[in-house]
Amino acid sequence: MGSLVAAVWRALHPSTLLLGAVVFLVLANFFRRRRLPKNYPPGPRSVPFFGNFFQLDFKQPHLSLQKYVKKYGNIFSMEFGAWPTVIVTGLPLIKEALIHQGHKFVDRPISPIRERIFKKNGLVLSNGQIWKEQRRFTLTTLRNFGLGKRSLEERIQEEVCHLAQAIKEENGQPFNPHFKINNAISNIICSITFGKRFEYQDEQFQEMLMLLDEVIRLETSVWAHLYTTFPRIMHFIPGSHQALFSKWEKLKLFISREIEKHKRDWNPEETRDFIDAYLEEIEKHTGDATSTFHEENLIFTTLDLFLAGTETTSTTLRWALLYMAFYPEIQEKVQAEIDGVLGQSQVPSMTSREFMPYTNAVVHEVQRMGNILPLNVPREATVDATLAGYDLPKGTMLVTNLTALHRDPAEWTTPDTFNPEHFLENGQFKKREAFLPFSIGKRVCLGEQLAKAELFIFFTTLLQKFTFKAPDNEKLSLDFRMGITISPVNYRICAIPRA
Ligand code: HEM
Ligand SMILES: *[C@@H]1O[C@H](CO)[C@@H](O)[C@H](O)[C@H]1NC(C)=O
Repeated sequence: MGSLVAAVWRALHPSTLLLGAVVFLVLANFFRRRRLPKNYPPGPRSVPFFGNFFQLDFKQPHLSLQKYVKKYGNIFSMEFGAWPTVIVTGLPLIKEALIHQGHKFVDRPISPIRERIFKKNGLVLSNGQIWKEQRRFTLTTLRNFGLGKRSLEERIQEEVCHLAQAIKEENGQPFNPHFKINNAISNIICSITFGKRFEYQDEQFQEMLMLLDEVIRLETSVWAHLYTTFPRIMHFIPGSHQALFSKWEKLKLFISREIEKHKRDWNPEETRDFIDAYLEEIEKHTGDATSTFHEENLIFTTLDLFLAGTETTSTTLRWALLYMAFYPEIQEKVQAEIDGVLGQSQVPSMTSREFMPYTNAVVHEVQRMGNILPLNVPREATVDATLAGYDLPKGTMLVTNLTALHRDPAEWTTPDTFNPEHFLENGQFKKREAFLPFSIGKRVCLGEQLAKAELFIFFTTLLQKFTFKAPDNEKLSLDFRMGITISPVNYRICAIPRA
């Protein structure tokens, strides 16, 4: 009897289970493989069943495929699990796909992780009617709040004051600015969606931001990739993908609590914020079964705004402070421009940007070097399409390589070195076509204007008030951490008050 139990136990040992799972998934995948057209872009041979899974360096996926660009040119294919993917390099081809043939690549691939949490709802990763209606509504509503009683610009100026105060309290001692910056940037989108900002000491909100940071990291873990490739199996296997699901649930709960509060003290006479506007929109469509405005979508669209509007800008700002500490002579030049145009008392605004070409160029250069979304956000062929003479069947994932643009030696004098001169000509600011951190086309970043205002006003205000430098006897590093965005590894910095 004992030996039977032992034998069963041995059979159920995790590694045995894993082996069984692998065999099962190999078979399952075999029957799912799609047939690709003859005239499909060339690419590295994929391993049966696993695709090109093992060719990807998960620590730096955006850099690991250079050899294929060399070998195959500006368009090549790979396969991730059962997902055929085409990777496009170079401005002409990126514009061809995202602008001239934009309507054919307007969808997003929905990963099994996203599908399980969001169904098909939301704004950033939704398609068809749901996406169209959510995007139109959100754009209009953001514009209305921008023109409302308190302009978006004022909200930004007010928030950066709070941030400066919190930084001042560090007394010039080394500190990690990560969560303060995150909180401040997030407060801008919170004031639009929830109608309020959160104190930097608010524990519940701190937990939210921590969750946000974690889901962003876990989304690109090997476990998440495995789930994406083999969802049906991974569903039952423990691993960090399971933590990911529970963290998403907590984020959803936070948003739905805010929505409940809004419903309780809702006054149809006064639209306070995005949630109020959305609740009105739901009312307008009551009885219309085809409407995509319902409470689920309110949760997911709000969550999407929160996610898209926090991590990106906050990461860019963290790069900005790091680069300033790294290049003190550039920081001095920015401060000289600030002192000349604004002095210590005038509050930076988007109007003052016109008179500050150097500072503007530095912010652009931070975005070029930071390159926080190295492979853009993927698109998917909505219909059968032809690109650069190759056939891309409906459902092909399209990845556009923004890194190659932002580091193209033909475009930039010092592609791998921080150099604001890239955006200057005779002392004036110069726009660059090969600079696309917000992407282009029908799904271009919805928050581009907001993000630009946040970046300029935050950056300029902080440099007006502080000089950033490395802690004594510590060396700062420009190493990055890979997640949904490329972010600097956590660093400590000193903010020395200037006044
Ligand atoms: C430095 C900051 C930011 C960067 C670099 C950035 C970049 C991007 C990129 C590359 C995309 C994909 C566009 C495409 O597929 O062509 C995107 C989409 C999006 N971004 Fe941003 N973003 C930033 C800040 C923001 C902010 C502050 C918001 C807040 C409103 C926001 C909201 C969105 C949304 C909602 C989408 C999805 C649009 C759609 O699918 O239709 N972003 N962003
Ligand atoms: C994107 O371009 C960069 C820079 O040229 C290159 O190192 C990287 O391998 C490319 N990535 C892909 C996925 O093509």
